[in-house]
Amino acid sequence: MGDPHPTPPTLRATALGRTFGRGPGKVSALGPLDLEVARGEFTCVVGPSGCGKSTLLRIAAGLLRPSTGRLEIRAETDRPAAMIFQDYGIYDWKSVLANVRFGLDVQRVPRKDADARARDWLSRLGLADFADAYPAALSGGMRQRVAIARALAVEPEILLMDEPFAALDAQLRTILQDELLELTQTTRTTTLFITHSLEEAIVLGDRVLVMSARPGRILAERRPPFARPRSGDIRDAAEFAALKRELWDLLRGEVRTEAVPA
Ligand SMILES: Nc1ncnc2c1ncn2[C@@H]1O[C@H](COP(=O)(O)OP(=O)(O)OP(=O)(O)O)[C@@H](O)[C@H]1O
Ligand SMILES: [Mg+2]
Repeated sequence: MGDPHPTPPTLRATALGRTFGRGPGKVSALGPLDLEVARGEFTCVVGPSGCGKSTLLRIAAGLLRPSTGRLEIRAETDRPAAMIFQDYGIYDWKSVLANVRFGLDVQRVPRKDADARARDWLSRLGLADFADAYPAALSGGMRQRVAIARALAVEPEILLMDEPFAALDAQLRTILQDELLELTQTTRTTTLFITHSLEEAIVLGDRVLVMSARPGRILAERRPPFARPRSGDIRDAAEFAALKRELWDLLRGEVRTEAVPA
């Protein structure tokens, strides 16, 4: 499977599988799937709709049990994972500051420290002036930044992101991709990132994994040939277009499989 990891994997899935329901209505949603994510690595996963990507992430986040196999997270601290959901999952009844502080409150970080850390993340994400606002007063892109700030504020060992930019318009999506690129290149946070966008996967990922149609398995792995730190300018490179085409060729057959009922 390619070059050896410099450090032991932070996340390892072994023969991981998940089914839903029983009897004739039983759905094989995922696997069996093997996956390793090395410390500090940004891994993107693309795959057809319904192939089990969210299921994989929910298992990694501890929100769902596997039916077979296992998923281990090798954590060095007591704050192993933080998840960012596609619908942001922020609380409308809490202020922006309270939302970002949420994970720190759960960890019982003293209020003064928690406030300072939350404000620091808000300013890194360009939201310093909105600490006291409520989410209803924010645009979609700003809400998404609150969700990112909240996840990063707990300094997670692993960041799990499920199509975090899917609901945003193309321009905003590009801007947030570039911001996330810069941010993760600074923090070197181990990240598992689900997306439908091949472009997004290539811009952000140290590697891109292509999943098969349901039940999802890893079909292929590609490493975007762009050194770090990289910028969004790689979108204009010839290698970028070539890799995008190659990934689409891999994915196309799976999307078709998915579209035709078995
Ligand atoms: N709680 C559940 N109960 C029953 N079936 C489920 C449940 N969660 C997921 N599934 C089924 O498992 C399969 C995989 O779902 P999942 O949400 O993981 O797909 P996905 O790859 O994230 O799709 P998308 O790209 O559309 O978000 C689907 O067939 C789905 O209907
Ligand atoms: Mg999903």
